[in-house]
Amino acid sequence: MTKEKLIIFDTTMRDGEQSPGASMTRDEKLRIARQLERMRVDVIEAGFPAASDGDFEAVKAVAATIKDSTICGLARASEADVRRCGEAVKGANSPRVHTFIATSPIHMEKKLRMEPSQVIEQAVRAVKWAREYTDNVEFSAEDAGRSDLDFLCRILERVISAGATTINVPDTVGYTLPEHFGALIRNLRERVPNSDKAIWSVHCHNDLGLAVANSLAAVMNGARQVECTINGLGERAGNASLEEIVMAVRTRQDAFSCVTNIDTTQIVPASRLVSGITGFAVQPNKAIVGANAFAHEAGIHQDGVLKSRDTYEIMRAEDVGWNANKLVLGKHSGRNAFKARLTELGIELPSDEALQAAFKRFKDLADKKHEIFDEDLQALISEEAAETLDGDYYHLISLAAHSETGTVPTASIVLSAGGKEQPARAQGSGPVDAAFKAIESIVASGAELLLYSVNNITSGTDSQGEVTVRLSKSGRIVNGLGADTDIVVASAKAYVSALNKLHSKLERVNPQL
Ligand code: KIV
Ligand code: ZN
Repeated sequence: MTKEKLIIFDTTMRDGEQSPGASMTRDEKLRIARQLERMRVDVIEAGFPAASDGDFEAVKAVAATIKDSTICGLARASEADVRRCGEAVKGANSPRVHTFIATSPIHMEKKLRMEPSQVIEQAVRAVKWAREYTDNVEFSAEDAGRSDLDFLCRILERVISAGATTINVPDTVGYTLPEHFGALIRNLRERVPNSDKAIWSVHCHNDLGLAVANSLAAVMNGARQVECTINGLGERAGNASLEEIVMAVRTRQDAFSCVTNIDTTQIVPASRLVSGITGFAVQPNKAIVGANAFAHEAGIHQDGVLKSRDTYEIMRAEDVGWNANKLVLGKHSGRNAFKARLTELGIELPSDEALQAAFKRFKDLADKKHEIFDEDLQALISEEAAETLDGDYYHLISLAAHSETGTVPTASIVLSAGGKEQPARAQGSGPVDAAFKAIESIVASGAELLLYSVNNITSGTDSQGEVTVRLSKSGRIVNGLGADTDIVVASAKAYVSALNKLHSKLERVNPQL
């Protein structure tokens, strides 16, 4: 029996971006979008075009670049929002406008201050405006999880008649329970007279840790689109995690009558990319993409796995893209081997100059670190892209740090600011603190450091450290990324990368709805 298709709708770059501090630039969105396309995500929600000019441009760029996935933008149910969204996505091979309005009594009364009948009319108008741009229109009943069933049936029937082709039922505040949410989807499909004219979708938040369970209950009751994010990123406690939904459906085919089209081997690279760009580290015990997700510590488990993998493993690590630190290249590898491996990893560089610059970095790294793994290459390309695409104003030219027991750590740096090289020296509570102070003595950004985190890219003391720095200034929050075998250098690079983003005007000013 052929199974139905479950549409995977990724909203990492829209709902995920609404996590405080996860704001992305246009170029970061393009990198994530390319990875989502490689993973064969069906629909990519690239942003909220009316939120800022930066996000409009980002959605437009994603629409112009991505060929194989549908590109969607979000719009409130107002004419200005819908038209801005329609303009942003209209260049896509397959564009979608996603419009929403709240339907729960509390939201209609306290937030919208509208009567239910006015909400219905506004929703219908919004869908009709959206249809002027594309016949692929999604409507969301915000806070559907706390909405009245009869009212939901009325409004959803009207928006389907007005031309909505996907109906999304969000559990906006993460309040529902799997059994109830599954029943809600079943009831809506049974009671809305024209329900067969639309695809039913769900969008669950994780406030009670139930986003994935609720989404899967909905799928068992006929939902054929799930909205989710890489690493479960999203407002507050996040959204349903894409990797968990996809792997649950794949692993438990005995329980689901649908399949996804996702290339699961692209899951771990996608997780790494999103966590690197946003600075949201993945907890080690996170399902599928956590560092320990496939590690067997207890002797009895190890013994069982050695005898037969399926004693304790329900999925194979390689099927989700863990390639166990595969040694790929070394100091003597040439440009062709480097390029071929990047192609195998699905990484395309935009030009010959970009390839040359990346190859030079690779050689520099190979001088310091003899074994270069896939993960090192991915970090090197991320860093390269972060530096070159943002049109850098600041460059770290050199850094010397000194720390010794019983002395105060110091760092001396040379920084190029707008093409002018300047030296500085500072003391700090540690070499990283000293390096940041030295940089700050030149830049005087006055930015507040919100987050500093270090992760090893591969295992072993010769591994590269990947550092994320999050800075905030005048309401803008940016993340900088740096990688190096020396974590003080990686930290300084990450700090400089964040300063470059503050300096550039590409960031979204206010990503929140
Ligand atoms: O959580 C929510 O309700 C949303 C909608 C806009 C789909 O993000
Ligand atoms: Zn949401």
